[in-house]
Amino acid sequence: ARRGAVLRRGIVAGTVPIAVTALLAAADPAGAGTTGAAGAGDPYFPLAGNGGYHVSHYDLTLRYDPGSRHLDGTAVLAARATQRLTGFDLDLKGLKVTGVTVDHAKAAFRRDGQELVVTPRTALRAGRPFRVTVTYGGTPGPVTDPDGSLDGWIPTDDGAFVAGEPQGAMTWFPANNHPRDKSSYDFTITVPRGHTAVANGLYLGSRTAHGRTTFRWRQREPMAAYLATATVGKFKVEQYTTRDGLKVYNAVDPRETNAAAPVLKKLPSVLEWESRLFGPYPFRAAGAVVDHARDVGYALETQSRPLYDSAPDLGTLVHESAHQWFGDSVSLTRWKDIWLNEGFATYAEWLYAEQHGGQSAQKEFDALYARPAGDELWAFPAGDPGSGRNIFATPVYARGAMTLHELRRAVGDPAFFRILRAWASGHRDGHGTTAQFTALAKRISGRDLDGLFHTWLFTKGKPSTP
Ligand code: ARG
Ligand code: ZN
Repeated sequence: ARRGAVLRRGIVAGTVPIAVTALLAAADPAGAGTTGAAGAGDPYFPLAGNGGYHVSHYDLTLRYDPGSRHLDGTAVLAARATQRLTGFDLDLKGLKVTGVTVDHAKAAFRRDGQELVVTPRTALRAGRPFRVTVTYGGTPGPVTDPDGSLDGWIPTDDGAFVAGEPQGAMTWFPANNHPRDKSSYDFTITVPRGHTAVANGLYLGSRTAHGRTTFRWRQREPMAAYLATATVGKFKVEQYTTRDGLKVYNAVDPRETNAAAPVLKKLPSVLEWESRLFGPYPFRAAGAVVDHARDVGYALETQSRPLYDSAPDLGTLVHESAHQWFGDSVSLTRWKDIWLNEGFATYAEWLYAEQHGGQSAQKEFDALYARPAGDELWAFPAGDPGSGRNIFATPVYARGAMTLHELRRAVGDPAFFRILRAWASGHRDGHGTTAQFTALAKRISGRDLDGLFHTWLFTKGKPSTP
């Protein structure tokens, strides 16, 4: 999606220079030129993502210098056209693009807000696989989200905290920046010796030469762009393999090791507990990055390796771990359904407390339900945040979890956990919507749950009966 929709239409309508028009005519003799849609069609973030193609793989080669804060990158995208394409967009904010090729031929490009508009020399027919290479560089920085929080490439005193939800991926690589498009990733990241660059998936090794170290990472299972990271810092690294064969890689800022160690020790048991509840852990790698970036103010469930801005408490570890099933493996189709991520991860915290000698989920629910009608908790229903500004607001998390608790009470524990497992397995490495979840819950339980979901997900204000 880009702001210059009129301009883009202009290409087809012939308001572009003669040479370009001639080129398009040659590539598209029928004159039915089609550029990929401006956005993925998400009303909360209309500029996010793009239409007309799917990216199956990103190969990102980056070099970052924490001192000068300069980033150089080469992104190679393996894509497939889902329609005939005379042009398409990538999302990229800031940075300078020095070249774009499509299948090794130089392509024309221009910048338009967060859009990198690419015009390949010849049109791509529908279904055709193609390869895009973008070389770029500059000083990356974060984006400010509608709620005022920062995401993307966030410089720290010893590197960068790189977290992309919902929009920040485009601050450090050209992306089809919407969770609707999931891809595998390779990362090759070079940083000054003494620094560590941590990305998603399996650690493939590192090499030091000429005062620089290059780290290689591979995320094989499909991943939404917002879950990618390339966090850089001075970290203490720990690696081991769990009983279940998961490859764990933890990177911890030395300023956080004392506080983080006792919590990180619990990661294998938390993942085992969640696997019993939700079904097999969806990835082959696991771990954590604990940075010292207190101005960030949140953690992120970066795929296979959540990212914390300081030593997490156990609840936060449980929360980000639960997102590996709910949010990462099962991705959103649209940001409006964000309760499918945050309500579920929050409810996982409640379940963990309940089963580990803490407060029961019912008590959590009751304490929240006791809040007065004017409380922010009741500002909007969990399934309808209204805009991108509210996707991380209290009702998404707390009322989302309350919705699951009400579902559990209505259908009973056996059916409830069958529903959670069926959701995770049926949509593994894929996507889901609220409507698909409510339909699944009804099918598995055999109950009429329309009233319950209508009340908790879609009715404004505090529900009159719990
Ligand atoms: N998904 C994260 C969580 O675990 C929150 C991310 C917040 N991002 C932001 N830009 N404020 O709850
Ligand atoms: Zn969360």
